[in-house]
Amino acid sequence: MNEATYRSITLFRNWDSSSAVRSRPYAYQFTHEDFAQTEPSLWFPATLSSALTHDSVKSLPKKELLLVHAHHLVHFMGYTTALEVVHVNEAVRCIVAGNLSKYFENEERHVALKLYADEAYHALFSKDIADQVAKHFNLMRTKPTRIEGLNFILEQSPPDLKCLTRFCIGFVSETLITRELLKLSTGALVGPVTNLLQDHLYDEGRHAVFFSECFSQLWRQIPKIERDYVAKMLPKILTAFSQPDIPFLRMVFKTRPALGEEVSAFALANQAVRMVEICKPTLRAIERTDLLDDESYFVHFQSAGLVA
Ligand SMILES: [Fe+2]
Ligand SMILES: [Fe+2]
Repeated sequence: MNEATYRSITLFRNWDSSSAVRSRPYAYQFTHEDFAQTEPSLWFPATLSSALTHDSVKSLPKKELLLVHAHHLVHFMGYTTALEVVHVNEAVRCIVAGNLSKYFENEERHVALKLYADEAYHALFSKDIADQVAKHFNLMRTKPTRIEGLNFILEQSPPDLKCLTRFCIGFVSETLITRELLKLSTGALVGPVTNLLQDHLYDEGRHAVFFSECFSQLWRQIPKIERDYVAKMLPKILTAFSQPDIPFLRMVFKTRPALGEEVSAFALANQAVRMVEICKPTLRAIERTDLLDDESYFVHFQSAGLVA
């Protein structure tokens, strides 16, 4: 076993006493006092969505702005639930029992199952928060467009490369999420949301290291034809993770359609800059391999606007 993989296994050594599912109290229930909080930023920080930084949105009446922020929280939590069970844990299944298992040692497959248990718990508490907040504010729900985009990428994947595609989605997701959660938890938030983010972040630091190392290990072993495929897929997946959810924004601003269009256009115009920002941790993990040293692979990333 190489040194890097050993590091990731060490990180999970005390999983039984340190993971959120094994050690944190279930503290995600909203009280009357929590629901009495009317400051919009306490429900979802504007830094996580370019729509919330738009001047016309910031100047909405406070009551309306509160609903916009709460709606973003519900949507993000719904997205997290789907992402964990539909994509991340399916990637883990490919490592443990799918056709990628041959690339990993038994100890790594063992660690992957700890991660699987973590993600199921994250899906559970994210769903719990989303359901309570949606019910309280009487908010409509939509299927997150990002999940649909990832499903589409999977549908296009050749059957024999399905697990490799799933792995690429899991790798991107797990290396991006820590940064997103960190951004989400920088300001003050309503109690149960703070608990959820802290508990989620606590686990995700380990997950990011594990998936980065799995990626390096897989990259070293897969044949050239699969390397070609991975180098083409990663920019597509990173782009899918950076796209603003336009149907969601239209729904949030459905009583102000002109503002909905303005905000959607603003989010789309900011997409390229946001993508470079949010993809940094994944690119750092990719740079630990020789992938970008290959000129034809580099071009895929360059054409997607990910590297200059
Ligand atoms: Fe998670
Ligand atoms: Fe994770």
